[in-house]
Amino acid sequence: MAFDVRCTHAGVPSALSGGSLKCPAHGSIFDPESGQVIRGPAVEPLKSYRTIETDGEIRILIS
Ligand code: FES
Repeated sequence: MAFDVRCTHAGVPSALSGGSLKCPAHGSIFDPESGQVIRGPAVEPLKSYRTIETDGEIRILIS
């Protein structure tokens, strides 16, 4: 699974830090494996995309 790391609160990119995805703007935290909100103010999970791996190449399925 791949995630759009733009925070669902106001669109600021979140980044991996200490094992979670943290938004530097207002402090939302997301689970890096599920994209679910751990701490707000965001209430919606990160947008996610399915991925496939073929011959060592990872492709993101956007539909
Ligand atoms: S934009 Fe990420 S918490 Fe507000």
